[in-house]
Amino acid sequence: MVAPTSYQGGKGRIADAILDHIHLPPGAVFCDLCCGAGSISLALMTRGRRPQDIIMVDRGPYGDFWRAVAGGRFDLGRLDRHLRQMPSDPRKIRAHLKQLSREPVNDDSVYVFLLLQAGSFGGKAIGQKGGRWTNSSFRAFWEPKPGCNRKSHVNPMMPMPGTLRERVAEIVSNCAGLRAFRADVRTFSVPDNAVMYVDPPYEGTAAYAQHTLDVRALVQELSVPCYVSEAVPLTEDAVLISDGRSKGGISGKRRRAHQEWLSRFNVEGPWHVR
Ligand SMILES: C[S@@+](CC[C@H](N)C(=O)[O-])C[C@H]1O[C@@H](n2cnc3c(N)ncnc32)[C@H](O)[C@@H]1O
Repeated sequence: MVAPTSYQGGKGRIADAILDHIHLPPGAVFCDLCCGAGSISLALMTRGRRPQDIIMVDRGPYGDFWRAVAGGRFDLGRLDRHLRQMPSDPRKIRAHLKQLSREPVNDDSVYVFLLLQAGSFGGKAIGQKGGRWTNSSFRAFWEPKPGCNRKSHVNPMMPMPGTLRERVAEIVSNCAGLRAFRADVRTFSVPDNAVMYVDPPYEGTAAYAQHTLDVRALVQELSVPCYVSEAVPLTEDAVLISDGRSKGGISGKRRRAHQEWLSRFNVEGPWHVR
């Protein structure tokens, strides 16, 4: 299982490297706080952990998606209705998403959100405020011009509708028993047998609009094992999970991506590495 859509800060590529460093005793409940598109929980279930032993929490619209999946209320038929309205010509998808994003957030927001998020420029988190969609700028279909270095086109959605449908169907059929909440993680009541993983927005970034978090203050309150992903080490024994890839844009200009560190709190002894 993989995350339904691309998502800024998503851990899809490094989920296994992170999980390799997390000690999860039998009987523990894994709490995926700031779960976003869910890469970590999905990788954990793919490793055979039961959905019943996982709790996912996010304050953004992805919180509603996971809550619908967990409650068995996600209706693939309703997603299909929206997918059928997508233009088959990829050149027209951006305008369609732009139009959808102008409509008020309604009862179908869980389904509309997935489409908007898949088309969001740079995977930037789509938000909701006052019954409206926020952060909505969408990718254009891009085709190479003669003489251009890049030879392949760029799709306006990541993933495109067919793959999005497959990913969501896989999630819906494998996640029964999961517990999930759309909530601020600071209000989350931590079970005694919890092992926490927190993936806050990178410190100092303005991403996720209103959804920010002082992760140091959060973990100070806790007495259960707690692992935190950040672009910087938060403890002396933090491990470097990824040194950051260079990302090449269409223009060919390269910029350095963030490093990814995993820090741990309330865990003694050497790092457990799978
Ligand atoms: C880096 S992303 C998480 C990415 C996720 N691990 C993945 O693989 O897709 C950070 C997430 O934190 C959420 N967030 C930020 N502040 C929060 C808060 N106070 N409570 C709950 N969620 C919060 C945002 O909505 C966003 O989805």
